[in-house]
Amino acid sequence: MKNRGLVIALASVVALFVLGAMYTAFRINNRELSEAARKINPQEIQQRYTESEVWGKYYPRHWESFNKGFQEKDQVKYGASKRLSKLEEMPYLKKLYAGTGYAEEFYEPRAHVYAVQDIGSISPKRKKTGGACLTCKATEVPDLIKKYGDKFYSAPFPEMYKMVKHPIGCSDCHDPKTNALRISRPALIKAFQRQGKDVTKASRQEMRSLVCAQCHVTYYFLKDTKETTFPWDKGLKADQVLAYFDQKKFTEFTHPESQSPLLKARHPDYEIFLGSTHQAAGVACADCHMPYVKVGDSKISSHWFTSPVSTINYSCTKCHRESADYLKNRVATIQNRHKQLLDIGANTLVQVIDEIKKTMDTPGADQKGLEEARKLHREAQWMWDWVATANSMGFHNPQEGALFLGKSIDLGHKAIAAARKARGAQQ
Ligand code: HEC
Ligand code: HEC
Ligand code: HEC
Ligand code: HEC
Repeated sequence: MKNRGLVIALASVVALFVLGAMYTAFRINNRELSEAARKINPQEIQQRYTESEVWGKYYPRHWESFNKGFQEKDQVKYGASKRLSKLEEMPYLKKLYAGTGYAEEFYEPRAHVYAVQDIGSISPKRKKTGGACLTCKATEVPDLIKKYGDKFYSAPFPEMYKMVKHPIGCSDCHDPKTNALRISRPALIKAFQRQGKDVTKASRQEMRSLVCAQCHVTYYFLKDTKETTFPWDKGLKADQVLAYFDQKKFTEFTHPESQSPLLKARHPDYEIFLGSTHQAAGVACADCHMPYVKVGDSKISSHWFTSPVSTINYSCTKCHRESADYLKNRVATIQNRHKQLLDIGANTLVQVIDEIKKTMDTPGADQKGLEEARKLHREAQWMWDWVATANSMGFHNPQEGALFLGKSIDLGHKAIAAARKARGAQQ
């Protein structure tokens, strides 16, 4: 057996290789363990996790950037963020939203630090749904939902408002123990479950958008319990969400002038972002809104929630070689064009309401034709509202904004034609 020596030699090599691999794996695992061990947050944070200022003691640079709030010098055209009134910027909203609280009072959003203060100061008429209005505003909310169950959503607003102190904060996006990104809001977890998906399996890059999708999405309140719910079961795009509401025969309000059964969209930022050039290229919300910034001698993810136009040198030039001025101009061009299309859509809807009203005032008008016009109004206004309530004035996904505004304008003209036909007027 002269090969025996060779076999032994080979076996030894294999054994050494296996041992070496095991040792390396052991080293790596232990290194991961020890790093993870160092990442465990102090007991004080774990116990008082709703209090962002406690986290702030251990993460002073994050805390400082989080508290920057609004700076006058950073006012930009469509973005951050004095608390400007949308009703002054877009007067037609009063007519389109008539019958809802939005027609009386509707502000631009501000940074996260103001959330509890701002919801407290708006008219009680806009908070009739109750505790549900707090779902996205304070760190105490996940615990209140656990404690009160569905009653949290339907309890009178002032009763639940007494129990919140801390605006959107660290524990809304971070696990109090490990500091890893986490989903704290049940509405997102449940929406994923209903689609057969497990949100806890998301990758790190997905989480850098999903933490925002807890709140920057459209939602509605279930009719019976008032539970905050994401209407995503048929898909996340405007037409799919409309199909979901139609199937449920859900109507949010009846327009006082046209008597149309309407829906109300609410900032579908995440939904519209899906499928955009940036999202398709693997970019996440945090890449632009929480860029790495230098603080002293270290780098942190910025926690100043504001317009990326104010932080263009950090937010965009990491990937784009163009100058900050060029990028600013691109954003402005996209936004100005988007605003023009948005205004055309809104003016079409104003006409729709007027034409339906005219037909209603015409004796002997065809009631079936009138119903058809109202149904088209519902669809047209939904598509428009979907785009109009999304933040960024078209930047997040310009093509999709144009698509649904185009559909809205087309549906609007069909509604006008149907209303005229129903009263026998010339087309
Ligand atoms: C490619 C960069 C980029 C990505 C990715 C991105 N945004 Fe934006 N976002 C912007 C820009 C640019 C604006 C417009 C700011 C302005 O008008 O001054 C904006 C505006 C906003 C605003 C309104 C800010 C204001 O000041 O009024 C919100 C809220 C927002 N984005 C949330 C999100 C969310 C949530 C996601 C992920 C689903 C996201 N963004 C992804 C660039 C980005
Ligand atoms: C709206 C969600 C959100 C909130 C609120 C939030 N963070 Fe973060 N935080 C993030 C994201 C996203 C990252 C980037 C994580 C990654 O890339 O894996 C991050 C990263 C971090 C990191 C890791 C280091 C770094 O800079 O990337 C620390 C530490 C941190 N946050 C602390 C805090 C503290 C302290 C608070 C409260 C004052 C807070 N965060 C509030 C979303 C949030
Ligand atoms: C727990 C709910 C919640 C989460 C999570 C959340 N937001 Fe917000 N966000 C809000 C609310 C509410 C406002 C409006 C606050 C106000 O106007 O008082 C807001 C406002 C903003 C603004 C507007 C700032 C301005 O100055 O106009 C930006 C930008 C923003 N959020 C980005 C993000 C991004 C990016 C993420 C994820 C990393 C995120 N948000 C996660 C609820 C949330
Ligand atoms: C993480 C990388 C990344 C960041 C951050 C980023 N972009 Fe981009 N951007 C891309 C990629 C990738 C594309 C697609 C390029 C292509 O297809 O050639 C793109 C495309 C664009 C386009 C063309 C849009 C279109 O629909 O074709 C504009 C405008 C743009 N980015 C502006 C910005 C601005 C403004 C910011 C900061 C607020 C920003 N980007 C931040 C990676 C990024």
